[in-house]
Amino acid sequence: MNNTILQVSELKTYFFTRIGVVKAVDGVSFGLRKGECLCLVGESGCGKTATALSILRLVDSPPGRIVGGEIQYHAEDLLRSPVSRLRRIRGNRIAMIFQDPQSSLNPVFTVGDQIMEPIRLHMKLGRRQARDRALHLMEQVGIPQAKERMKYYPHQFSGGMKQRVMIAAALSCDPEILIADEPTTALDTTIKAQILDIFRDLKQKKDMSILFITHDLGTVAGIADRIIVMYGGRIAEAGSVLDIFDQPKHPYTRGLLNCLPAISERREKLSPIPGVIPSLIDPPEGCIFYPRCQQRMPVCQQKRPEEFVISGKHIAACYLYA
Ligand SMILES: Nc1ncnc2c1ncn2[C@@H]1O[C@H](COP(=O)(O)OP(=O)(O)OP(=O)(O)O)[C@@H](O)[C@H]1O
Ligand SMILES: [Mg+2]
Repeated sequence: MNNTILQVSELKTYFFTRIGVVKAVDGVSFGLRKGECLCLVGESGCGKTATALSILRLVDSPPGRIVGGEIQYHAEDLLRSPVSRLRRIRGNRIAMIFQDPQSSLNPVFTVGDQIMEPIRLHMKLGRRQARDRALHLMEQVGIPQAKERMKYYPHQFSGGMKQRVMIAAALSCDPEILIADEPTTALDTTIKAQILDIFRDLKQKKDMSILFITHDLGTVAGIADRIIVMYGGRIAEAGSVLDIFDQPKHPYTRGLLNCLPAISERREKLSPIPGVIPSLIDPPEGCIFYPRCQQRMPVCQQKRPEEFVISGKHIAACYLYA
């Protein structure tokens, strides 16, 4: 049975800047199923945040614009829905934890008020009930002395606690889909583990679908059901967590895995991928990984590789598998 609740098809999001058109997302397709955690992984600048923001049509415009594709959520295409409809979906049915907590928590309101706001707006609860719910959520994400801390302002929280506030706010309306953009980056290891536990719980107990975004492949091993590896605004490889960790196919995925300390101890020595991340302005005709690829062939420079099926849902955009 196909229980895909969000289907992104051929998404293209470009930024029209003074120095050229940045093809931040250039033909990306994937489905998110009910109750799964899908991880979007790739180096800085590969288009992860632009993909996430496109789903809720929150890309800065100008300079950004979604120039193509479809985002099917149940029976509607979010790219063609009226803005009033999107406002009802955002923060309510599809919630997002933004990459930068500093910029998404308002410094002049208490965190309690900020968690209560979407509850009152979308769930139409009174102040008292909204406060009870906010308190419950803060406790659920492990904020100690939650009752007292509801009255705090964001600057009175540490980074890890702020991250929890963001999660509580995102969960306020019991969303069907949670998009979490680097929710654990910049946190120390123990706090990171606690936050990942919260996500695992949400998935299991609430059957929530999570789109988890990180540049760190190491983080996703314990939480992902499926992984999409992005490179230069495109999908390089996608598959189950086992496919990606045990049978990586794309030279870029293999390169990323070789940069993971725990894994490369067992394999060869830790080796960074040579070369630099490509400019997304005027990307080359062929494979965008070509200049850095150790296994490149003449065909790779001529034509962009399609997504070749390895087996089942395991795909790689690489001519080695044509
Ligand atoms: N407002 C903007 N104006 C111009 N270019 C932008 C803008 N936002 C993003 N970009 C460009 O789009 C590309 C993708 O950016 P994006 O933020 O999606 O990357 P990312 O994968 O989330 O990276 P990171 O891991 O650093 O968060 C980059 O080349 C970036 O420079
Ligand atoms: Mg980002």
